[in-house]
Amino acid sequence: MEQGNNTQELKIPAHVAIIMDGNGRWAKKRGLPRTVGHAQGAKVVEQILEDADDMGIKYLTVYAFSTENWTRPVTEVKALMNLLRTYMKTSLAKCAKNNVRVRVIGDKSKLDADLQDSIAGLEADTAGNTGIGFQIAINYGGRDEITRAVRKIAAKAAAGEIRPEEITSESISDSLDTAGIPDPDLLIRTCGEQRTSNFLIWQCAYSEFNLRRQRGRTLQKRILNLQSTLITTESADMEDLSGK
Ligand code: FPP
Repeated sequence: MEQGNNTQELKIPAHVAIIMDGNGRWAKKRGLPRTVGHAQGAKVVEQILEDADDMGIKYLTVYAFSTENWTRPVTEVKALMNLLRTYMKTSLAKCAKNNVRVRVIGDKSKLDADLQDSIAGLEADTAGNTGIGFQIAINYGGRDEITRAVRKIAAKAAAGEIRPEEITSESISDSLDTAGIPDPDLLIRTCGEQRTSNFLIWQCAYSEFNLRRQRGRTLQKRILNLQSTLITTESADMEDLSGK
């Protein structure tokens, strides 16, 4: 990594989360069906995973299908599910070669049985890998994840296993799908929308956001951007805000 213009060592974030939108727009611009855009998006994900691993990022989490995406046209939902099906079936060799550990976050119980089986297989077969942790969010929504976590905790309380005052933000984190994974340092949104769209809403409480549209091998650019933001923020004060 390059260094900033001060003496501080630039640090690679441990966990980067990405909202990958713009596939549909990418395809439309080229006169192609949206589903071709999603297939292209899946290829880009593979490249980003390699780049993230090369840079020393320990965890990468991508938003592949949200709890709200079921309302899209049936053909688009089918195409996305088939894309994910193919990924679960074909990526084991690559994960083994690159020492990648896969975890799917989200409510898997609503997915087709064969996809659930492929996910369970890939998770089990890569569980012993010690390299980058790759989280794929499928049928994922932050509010849904928190609701499921609250239900788990409430069931324990009802069974007398915990008292309400023993519930802490740590125990809530430990009940989420991302249990054991550090919160993201950086949240990237690829196509310029300025919202989190229900992605990792608990986990991103302190994350830096990079929601700009950028071209090229943007992961590196965005990490460098994060570094300079952090350094600039350190030297900024209330005078900047008040404009005096
Ligand atoms: C939302 O924006 C994006 C999605 C619903 C799908 C993203 C999924 C992938 C890139 C495939 C993931 C694959 C793997 C292997 C993890 P949109 O593309 O509909 O954007 P737009 O309509 O706003 O342009």
